[in-house]
Amino acid sequence: MYKLGPSLMCADLVNMERDIRALEEAKVDFYHIDIMDGKFVPNFTLGPDFVSAVKGLTSTPLDVHLMIEEPERYIDLFIEAGADMISVHQESTKNLQRVLNLIRNKGIKAGVAVNPATSLEFLDYIYDVTDYVVVMTVNPGFAGQKFIPSMYDKIKELKEKITAYGRPIEIQVDGNIGAETIPGCLNNGADMYVLGTSAVFRSDNTLQQNVANTRKLFDKGAEV
Ligand code: DX5
Ligand code: ZN
Repeated sequence: MYKLGPSLMCADLVNMERDIRALEEAKVDFYHIDIMDGKFVPNFTLGPDFVSAVKGLTSTPLDVHLMIEEPERYIDLFIEAGADMISVHQESTKNLQRVLNLIRNKGIKAGVAVNPATSLEFLDYIYDVTDYVVVMTVNPGFAGQKFIPSMYDKIKELKEKITAYGRPIEIQVDGNIGAETIPGCLNNGADMYVLGTSAVFRSDNTLQQNVANTRKLFDKGAEV
């Protein structure tokens, strides 16, 4: 079953409550919240105060994507703010297995995000402590970039590895997920879809309508 998660960095930052109310009506499955430190990626976005403010508006799970160096320093902060799941980048820590354990031991889901150039081999020994893998389909840092086509093969390879491993681990795709790219991601086995400027935060329609149109792509994909 696929899950849809709007990327809140792409929402209207001065009308966040209005946007979240609309997305609640559209019954999205999770909210994706991008955290950047200006070092791991060359940009800044949201922070723990934003996470706790959103927590006050919804009981839909909050998925915090940490694009920061040494994420182990801030896990507690984001859990206290209300994160229900946290992903850290494989490239951002020297102690990936420890960070994943740290997150899971607090009773929330732990994800590993991998940049487009990162090989899946780095995940071979951590599937037992991983709840989801985020395949970055663009280089992290900015919304509105182009999907990197070789990521379809990466999703497929990851799906095969997870199936062979035998424990349920979800595959999340993040970056330029929309009408052009959803069919390929779905056919290769992605489960969780981060929806940014390409699918939901578009000015040509309401947020509810954009979510509804996105759902139609999945119904079509399932028929193929
Ligand atoms: C990229 C972020 C994404 C991004 C998705 O660094 O992690 O969540 O906002 O937005 P689009 O769909 O515009 O790529
Ligand atoms: Zn993200």
